[in-house]
Amino acid sequence: MARIVLFENIHPSAREVFQSAGYDEIITHAAALPPDTLREAIRGAQVLGIRSRTQIDAELIAANPDLRAIGCFCIGTNQVDLDAALAHGVAVFNAPFSNTRSVAELVLGEAILLLRRIPEKNYRVHQGFWDKTADGAYEARGKTLGIVGYGNIGSQVGTLAELAGMKVLFHDVEAQLPRGNAKPVSSLKRLLAQSDVVTLHVPGGKATQNLINAETIAAMKPGAILINASRGTVVDIDALHSALLSGHLAGAALDVFPVEPKSRDEALDSPLRGMPNVILTPHIGGSTQESQENIGREVAEKLVSYLQAGATKGSVNFPEVPYQEKAGTARILHVHRNVPGAMGALSSVVADHGLNIVAQHLQTKGPIGYVISDVEGEVKETVISVLRSHPVTVRCELV
Ligand code: NAI
Repeated sequence: MARIVLFENIHPSAREVFQSAGYDEIITHAAALPPDTLREAIRGAQVLGIRSRTQIDAELIAANPDLRAIGCFCIGTNQVDLDAALAHGVAVFNAPFSNTRSVAELVLGEAILLLRRIPEKNYRVHQGFWDKTADGAYEARGKTLGIVGYGNIGSQVGTLAELAGMKVLFHDVEAQLPRGNAKPVSSLKRLLAQSDVVTLHVPGGKATQNLINAETIAAMKPGAILINASRGTVVDIDALHSALLSGHLAGAALDVFPVEPKSRDEALDSPLRGMPNVILTPHIGGSTQESQENIGREVAEKLVSYLQAGATKGSVNFPEVPYQEKAGTARILHVHRNVPGAMGALSSVVADHGLNIVAQHLQTKGPIGYVISDVEGEVKETVISVLRSHPVTVRCELV
């Protein structure tokens, strides 16, 4: 039975999934551990569960030959050396969708609050003023929401916004299936020119750096609102600051920043601090109790499906083979170097031991091939030992 070691206070929903799948040896650590202690803590583990603070480098992976899989109970996976994991036949999983809804709800909430100028009004009442007026306050109903990046989160925002009566437009660099009555717009500028609220849901990186800048902000409707809960680098903050000061934009909500504080004790350095028509939040768009629980369940289920059936769909580094019902009497998971003859080697070892392959699913990714073989017959430990010692083999398991 696999030994599972979890770090960084992973939600108990993960343990529930492991236990109900029959895994009892689950060791949990409340925090990330320093390198020396970490090395000790993961010895002998087949499965690791981490969040963003545990670094798993090539050396750690090489030093733990029992390790079969790593679950990143979060979205990001750059804390793991994914190439080294692949080279050692260690599949890595994450939770790309579990916090989608949390981000989408925050964005819709912010759109409604900013359309009503609530951040300013809240601030004024706290200061002792009673500015009872309808000036500049609008309903969300009938307003146009422009979504830039219509992927998992963007499309979910659109669905929620329609429930509030908003018209939804979106712009994406790839063709996307519109949800509800949402309408695609072929150019960013055309989308900006029509939207009362613009919300950004594109990935970070070079291609989207300063996508929203002085020129694109100028294309936005006077009095529009900008929301960014994607990546801080997508917005040129100085250009946004000027547009808010001049009144060209009525308000903004930002959850992400080009440079974010590294710890709780550090303050955000931004010209937007102190502006009453700007909502600033500390990158918590996806941080809710529900998303933590969903992440615990989503990643643990992927790990169990890999351990018990070899399924790697959704793995961030491995060749992807979807879940398949077992055919035959046993299943052999074989990770090999992606070289000519690897499949032949596997087949002949299996045939030499009197086993008949009844179903087989192969996928390759770069230097690695991964094949699930369902066989008929009794698979003795010697077959697995012969396969493990074969020069093409990276890893071999019987499940
Ligand atoms: P996704 O990959 O499902 O969707 C991104 C979409 O943007 C794709 O459809 C892609 O084709 C499109 N896109 C890429 N470049 C574009 C461009 N230049 N113009 C228009 N569309 C473009 O990603 P998902 O899961 O929806 O996440 C979106 C963003 O939200 C990411 O940056 C992610 O890091 C961020 N995020 C922020 C969180 C928070 O706590 N604030 C939590 C989770 C994700």
